[in-house]
Amino acid sequence: MMSGTSTDGVDVALTRISGRGLDTNVHLLSFATYSFTPQMRHRILHLVSASTEEICEMNFILGEILANCALKLLPHAGYKPEQIDFIGSHGQTIYHLSGAAGRRNSTLQIGEGAIIAARTGVITVCDFRPADIAAGGTGAPLVPYADFVLFRKKGKVRALLNLGGIANVTIVPEKLDEVIAFDTGPGNMVLDGLVEIKYQGRKRWDVGGHIAARGKVDKSLFRDLMRHPYLKRQPPKSTGRETFGAAFVVDLWIKAQGMPFADLMATAAYFTAASIHRNFEKFIFPRFAVDEIFVSGGGWHNRTLMTFLASLFRPIPVCQLDELGMNGDAKEAVAFALLADATIQGLPASAPQATGAERPAILGKIIL
Ligand SMILES: Nc1ncnc2c1ncn2[C@@H]1O[C@H](COP(=O)(O)OP(=O)(O)O)[C@@H](O)[C@H]1O
Ligand SMILES: [Mg+2]
Repeated sequence: MMSGTSTDGVDVALTRISGRGLDTNVHLLSFATYSFTPQMRHRILHLVSASTEEICEMNFILGEILANCALKLLPHAGYKPEQIDFIGSHGQTIYHLSGAAGRRNSTLQIGEGAIIAARTGVITVCDFRPADIAAGGTGAPLVPYADFVLFRKKGKVRALLNLGGIANVTIVPEKLDEVIAFDTGPGNMVLDGLVEIKYQGRKRWDVGGHIAARGKVDKSLFRDLMRHPYLKRQPPKSTGRETFGAAFVVDLWIKAQGMPFADLMATAAYFTAASIHRNFEKFIFPRFAVDEIFVSGGGWHNRTLMTFLASLFRPIPVCQLDELGMNGDAKEAVAFALLADATIQGLPASAPQATGAERPAILGKIIL
């Protein structure tokens, strides 16, 4: 189970796993996203500056929500909780400190695993990130190990691009210790933020990218956006709402006063695509001859964003992850099933060169 920075809902994947370590196979049996109510989403988004009391309580409330999500998917897929070996739950990140000046690397995911285990009666693995921080890393990204296990292909260099709230990429060459992965910047976050201001919460995102498709890119605003320092920062790097959330979006909204909304959306979509491409130019293409790019995450559904990406990356094909037989919306939840499997087997499942850790770590905490 996974809930990302978009805070759109909980992704639940039911999988059948066989094999071990790098030879693990995962078959997706069923998948659903259960949306948060607007009130719950609002509470989660406010946790960044909430009281300790609120955080304490929300850890348990989210635990109940996660347990319910698991229990909802099972009958739908024709399974009973007794048939499930374990649950892997990422939880909701409410804060992540990595490489901040004068601050200790640290991270906090909530959604109490003890509640999930108690309500479902299923062994639950949660809290994946701290073990990597204990090993000297930043605790993110953790999906690269899963990307390597699931999608490596002899003789090819594949890029796995996930367009969640933030966009992140994993480069999968033939060897695990050559994998690189980092956040490129915004995925849907800036686009969603603009829609939220314009429609005051009546619309959640630009469905299909139709609004952006009607607009025209404002060159001067685009150039200004491309000067953002995150684009130049050397990986390993990660980012989030602190950088591309409400403050960034409000600033952009003010800068674009008088511009038709469709043009602002087109410009933000083009910036999102170009920021991804710029990171490839600076940090990936000098080291890897990328053969193909596979896109997962909600951003795939934004056709305007995808058209921009395809034209920027041409002649490298930008494909849907589904072409590799994996539902792109389910990828991150599937990854945490695979990571939980490694935990249960006592195997490390991090990619130290992606997180900056000194050694691979066995991730997660197990609630029996
Ligand atoms: N039909 C759609 N059209 C355009 N954008 C969409 C569509 N469906 C989902 N999205 C985008 O995908 C986001 C959710 O993507 P997701 O991969 O779940 O991100 P996260 O991992 O951050 O939760 C939404 O906030 C929205 O921006
Ligand atoms: Mg999501």
